[in-house]
Amino acid sequence: MSFCNSFFIACLAILWKYACMAEKPIILLAIESSCDETGVSVVRKEGDKVTTLSELVTSQASIHEATGGVIPEVAAREHLNVIGPMIASAMQQSGYTQEDIDAIAVTVGPGLMPALVVGVQAARTLAFAWGKPIVPVHHIEGHIYSALLGGVEPNSYKLTAKSLLPALALIVSGGHTMLIEIPTHLTYKILGETLDDAVGEVFDKVARMLGLPYPGGVHVSRLAAEGNAKAFNFPRPMLNSKDLNFSYSGLKTAVLYQVQELGEEMTENQKADIAASFQAAVVDSLAKKLVQATEGREYKAILLAGGVAANQALQSRIQKEADTLQIPLLLAPATLCGDNATMIGQAGIFAYEAGRIKSWREVDAIARVSIENF
Ligand code: KG4
Ligand code: ZN
Repeated sequence: MSFCNSFFIACLAILWKYACMAEKPIILLAIESSCDETGVSVVRKEGDKVTTLSELVTSQASIHEATGGVIPEVAAREHLNVIGPMIASAMQQSGYTQEDIDAIAVTVGPGLMPALVVGVQAARTLAFAWGKPIVPVHHIEGHIYSALLGGVEPNSYKLTAKSLLPALALIVSGGHTMLIEIPTHLTYKILGETLDDAVGEVFDKVARMLGLPYPGGVHVSRLAAEGNAKAFNFPRPMLNSKDLNFSYSGLKTAVLYQVQELGEEMTENQKADIAASFQAAVVDSLAKKLVQATEGREYKAILLAGGVAANQALQSRIQKEADTLQIPLLLAPATLCGDNATMIGQAGIFAYEAGRIKSWREVDAIARVSIENF
C-alpha cells in the first residue's frame, strides 16, 4: 500500500473515532442525600441535550415535622431505609442497566454529615461493584446547574449554557444564602453570603413562631398572599452596607418581638400581615443585593436557585429586576427548586466531561466545603 493510501486510511480512522465519541451518550446515575430529601436520578447527555430518564425524590418532611427540624441521625436512618430500593427503581425506570452507566454522580457536601455519608457510601459501593468511576458534586453546584439548564422544556434541556456565562447566581435555600459569580463552567466566585441565618432557615423559624408546620417556607408564603405587606415595617438587613453579604438574625428577632407583643390575642389577619411583611423584607433585601452585585459587571444571565427560589413573590420581584437590567433570568423548573438528584446529575455531566472522575477509594463526604475550592 502506498504512503498516500495508508495516510488516507489513518485519517479516516481518526475521524471515525471522533465521530463515535461525539455520538456516544453520557449516562450518569445521580444520588443526593445531603439533608432531608433522598434523590436518585438517571440523566443522559446526547448531542447538545441533557435528558432526565428517571427522577425519584423521597421527602422526610413529615418525619421531621414532629421535631420542627432535621435531626441528622434520624435523617440518615431514613435515607438508609429508602436509598437501595430507590436506586433499583431509578435504574429500572431509566431503561438502562449497570453496564450502560458511565459514572455515578453524588453529592459529597456540604450538608449534614450522617445524611451525606449514606449517599456517598451507596455511590462508593456501586462504583466498586459495577467497576465505574464517581463524579463528586458540590450541592450548590447542583442548584446552579439546574437553573442554568432549566426552563427550556421539562426533561430535555437544551445546552444553551455556554452562551449564558458569565452568570450571576442567587442561591437561597435552607442552608445557604449566596451570590455567586460563574465566569466559566465549573468555576465559582463567592461575591457575598449570609453572616448568620440562611433565608430558608428564617422562613422555617418564622413559620414556627406563627404556628405553621415544618418545613415552613411554603406555608409562610401561602399565608403572606392573604396579608398586607405594609402592615409591619420590618428591617431590611444590610441594605446600607457596601459589601454583598446578607444577615437575617435581626429580621428574625424583629418578627419574634412582634409575635410576642401581639401574644395570644394575635388574630388570623395579623398572622397573615406578619407573614406578608416578613416576606416583603426578605424579598427586598435579596433583590437589592442582587442588583448591587451587577453594578460594574457584565453578566449574560441571572440564576435563581435553591428551595426558596420556589417562592412566587421572590420570583416575580427578581424577574422585574432582571427585566430592568435586560439580563435573562433562569430558574429551575418548580419540581427541581428543592433538593433532588437530577440537579446533581446535570452538574455531574459537565464535571464528567471536564475530567472530574474519581475512583471509589478517593471519594468521601465533606460536611463543610466551599464551592470555590471544590
Ligand atoms: O434547597 P432546599 O430544598 O434544601 C437545602 O439545601 O437547604 O431548601 C429548603 C428550604 C426550606 O427552608 C424551605 O422552607 C424553603 O426552602 N422553601 C421556601 C419555599 N419553598 C421551600 N421558602 C419560601 N417560600 C417557598 N415557597
Ligand atoms: Zn439544597
